[in-house]
Amino acid sequence: MKICILSRARKAYSTQRLVEAAKARGHRALVLDTLKFSIGVEQRDPDLYYRSKRLSHYDAVIPRIGASITFYGLSVVRQFEQMGVYVANESLAIARSRDKLRSIQILSRHDIGIPPTAFARDKNDVIPAIERVGGVPVIVKVLEGTQGVGVILAENVKIAQAIVETLQSARQNVLIQKFIKESKGRDIRAIVVGDRVVAAMRRVATGDEFRSNVHRGGRTEAVTLDPEYERTAIRAAQVLDLRVSGVDMLEGADGPQVMEVNSSPGLEGIEGATGVDVAGAIIEDIESRVLFPEVNLRQRLRLTGGFGIAEFPVHNIPEIEGKKLSDIDLMARNVQVITITRGNEAIHTPNGNDEIHTGDVLLCYGELGALRALMPKELPKKKRRKKTGQTGENDSQGNQGG
Ligand SMILES: Nc1ncnc2c1ncn2[C@@H]1O[C@H](COP(=O)(O)OP(=O)(O)O)[C@@H](O)[C@H]1O
Ligand SMILES: [Mg+2]
Repeated sequence: MKICILSRARKAYSTQRLVEAAKARGHRALVLDTLKFSIGVEQRDPDLYYRSKRLSHYDAVIPRIGASITFYGLSVVRQFEQMGVYVANESLAIARSRDKLRSIQILSRHDIGIPPTAFARDKNDVIPAIERVGGVPVIVKVLEGTQGVGVILAENVKIAQAIVETLQSARQNVLIQKFIKESKGRDIRAIVVGDRVVAAMRRVATGDEFRSNVHRGGRTEAVTLDPEYERTAIRAAQVLDLRVSGVDMLEGADGPQVMEVNSSPGLEGIEGATGVDVAGAIIEDIESRVLFPEVNLRQRLRLTGGFGIAEFPVHNIPEIEGKKLSDIDLMARNVQVITITRGNEAIHTPNGNDEIHTGDVLLCYGELGALRALMPKELPKKKRRKKTGQTGENDSQGNQGG
C-alpha cells in the first residue's frame, strides 16, 4: 500500500512510529503536511493538490489533525473521502470527537458510563444545572479544549457561575459536569484500534492537580483493564465510529465514565508505558479495512428513491409474530430483514428458517411503503427514569413571579 500520513509534525514521535511501522510491513509511507494541500472541487472530479501539484494515488490516509487546524484538516480528510480513498478515521467522526459535548451526547443513548453533564445558556439555568449533576464542587469545561486547558474545578456555586459567565462572554461554549472525586486525579487512557483495546495506561496527576494529562505533569503506568473498562472503551469507539482512538475514562464509584474520545491519540506516552507496538496495530487495521472505504448508506438509499432502513420492535404485528421468515415472504413485498436482535443476541442476514418472536427488534431494508405497512402503528413508549424537577414548558410566566 501507499499510505499518506497527514501531519504537520514530521519529526514527532507518533508520526515517525507510523512511518516505521508501515515500512516494517512492506508499505510505502509519506508524511504530508496538512496545510500544504489545496482542494479542487469540480463536478464528478474531486481532487487534491500538494504543494500546488496534483496529488498521486494513495491507498490509505492516516489523519493526525492538531486541534488548532481542525477546520482545514477536516476539509482535506473529507476530500480524500470524496476521492474514494480509505481514511483511518473519517472526517465526520473526527469532528464529533473534537467536541466534548457532542461526543458524550452521542454516547449517552448507549449503555456507556459518562459523567452526568449539563449544557445551558440562560443565566437562570446555571444553578439548576449544577444541582442536576450533583452540586458543587463541579467541573466547568470548554467544549473544544485539549491537554487539560479549559478544564476548571469550581469549589462553590458563586465561582462556578462566575466561570461560566466569563467563558460565555468570551464566546466560549462550556459544559457543567459532575466532579468525579473518587477518581482522585487519576484516569484511564485506552487505545482502541478497530474493535479491540491494544494498550491501556493509567495517568496520575501530580501534587494537588486534579487533571491527569501528561501535558499537566501526569505520570503514566501500564494497566490491565477490567472487562467493564475494556467493553466501555470499545463501545465508545464503535459508537463514535472511530477506528483509531484514545478513550479517556474516569474511575467512578460505579465503574468507567467516559470523558472524551481522542481521534489522534499520542503514541509516545502509551508505547512508553506499555511497550506495545500501537503504530503496528494501526497499520494492520488499515490493511484489513482498506477495501472498505466510507459508504453513506442513508444518502445512497435516498438517491435510489423510495427505499429506506427501519428498525422497530415486533409488537402487535400478528402477521409476522411467531412465524418463520420463509412463511411470511417479505421479499415479495420488497422488504429484506438485515438483522433480528433478540435480547443480547443478533441474527445477521437471517434465512428462511429463522423465526420472528414477539419482542425481537428487526432491522429491515426495503421499499418505504411496504416498511410502513409492516411496522407497528404505535411503538411502545420508552420508560424514562424518575428524576426530580417538574416540567417547565407550560409555565409561560417563567420566573416573573407568576
Ligand atoms: N468530570 C471530571 N471529574 C474529575 N476529573 C475530571 C473530570 N473531567 C476532567 N477531569 C480531569 O481533567 C483531565 C482533562 O479533562 P478532559 O475532559 O480529558 O480534557 P482535555 O481534552 O483537556 O484532556 C482529565 O484527564 C481528568 O484527569
Ligand atoms: Mg483528555
